[in-house]
Amino acid sequence: MNIIDVIDKKRNKETLTREELEFAFNGYLNKEVQDYQMSSLLMAITINGMTDQEVFDLVDIYIKSGEVLDLSSIPGVKVDKHSTGGVGDKTTLVVVPIVASLGLIVPKMSGRGLGLTGGTIDKLESIPGFRVEATKEQILKELNDIGMIICSQTESLVPLDKIVYSLRDVSGTVESIPLIAASVMSKKIASGADKILIDIKCGNGALMKDEKSARELRDLLIRIGNNYNKEVRCLISDMNTPLGVCVGNALEVAEAAELLDGKVKNNLYDLCVDIASNMVSMGKDISIIDAREQVLDAINSKKALEKFNQFVEYQGGSLEDMRISDNKLEVKSPKSGVITGINALKVSVVSNALGSGKAYIDDNIDYSVGVFLNKQIGERVKEGDTLCTIYYNKEENDYGILDAYTIEEK
Ligand code: URA
Repeated sequence: MNIIDVIDKKRNKETLTREELEFAFNGYLNKEVQDYQMSSLLMAITINGMTDQEVFDLVDIYIKSGEVLDLSSIPGVKVDKHSTGGVGDKTTLVVVPIVASLGLIVPKMSGRGLGLTGGTIDKLESIPGFRVEATKEQILKELNDIGMIICSQTESLVPLDKIVYSLRDVSGTVESIPLIAASVMSKKIASGADKILIDIKCGNGALMKDEKSARELRDLLIRIGNNYNKEVRCLISDMNTPLGVCVGNALEVAEAAELLDGKVKNNLYDLCVDIASNMVSMGKDISIIDAREQVLDAINSKKALEKFNQFVEYQGGSLEDMRISDNKLEVKSPKSGVITGINALKVSVVSNALGSGKAYIDDNIDYSVGVFLNKQIGERVKEGDTLCTIYYNKEENDYGILDAYTIEEK
């Protein structure tokens, strides 16, 4: 077999066999296929798509490139979640403790920031002392002890996705539905959960820019789940506006804790309740209405907050020592009117420029910077009111954040 023939075949819109996919992808893992050859194949896939059978084969090849976590020694139903990535998306930090506080087991392996979207692991690293790495034995022990874990993926979990993802990130092939589906589902299946909730973000701050592609991805994720006898539910959620009021690592951790303390009621709260209710409904095999009642009780009784604190402490973190920059710049409204838009993509560009994400692989993240949105969509503002507060370290600069706002004089 020859890699050029495999690339040609996909470029000519033909279907690849399992053997051809194995040859190309395992060859890439073993360094027999070069970066430029794999990026060419990925681009052909991005342009011409894949059949379901090709995607199923790719998921299987991905999974078999590493180890599958065996959770059978832990009693109880295991429920997992995944988000395709958004701006201000700290739902994992909220939802996992809620679901675990209701007696389900949540083994959550998360990633770092990618492109303009933040990653849960980076957010957790803003808590001094917090350990994001865990061995297989430590994962099982923590699940046994407290029913949840949020850690970074173990080295042995789907190593093929790790290298293919890095290449996609720099070759214009991130936004391919079959490649996203294979990447997400291989990791979820290898992480060993019985039931999986996927939050598909849709909008200018997300990989899926429109509803049609989001629905296409949803249907494919569910078909892959069925192929592995796993129950998969998907939500499609808005990512035109940042989730919640904080964007930036430590700020987002603080917002998650405040939500669990009952102090936040906004788009983030609504989405967290939806995600958690679906996970509980699947995990306990109960209606979404009953599940929602349990979720609200877990928040209102502070059971979920206790679980969050227990989890942070278990992984060595100290919330009291977490730092948000003392340097603040308040950005004022240039006119009076009603806020009708806060562009998620633009806010994330500002947050990254402040240092909360990486522009280059070797950059250091500044956990203490970010943006706090003082005013929300739908709010009436007067000229001179504070729209948002920028927490900075490097230099006092608003990085043009006013461009993110649409204010209509109604
Ligand atoms: N999240 C993933 O894990 N993989 C993708 O390809 C996109 C989002």
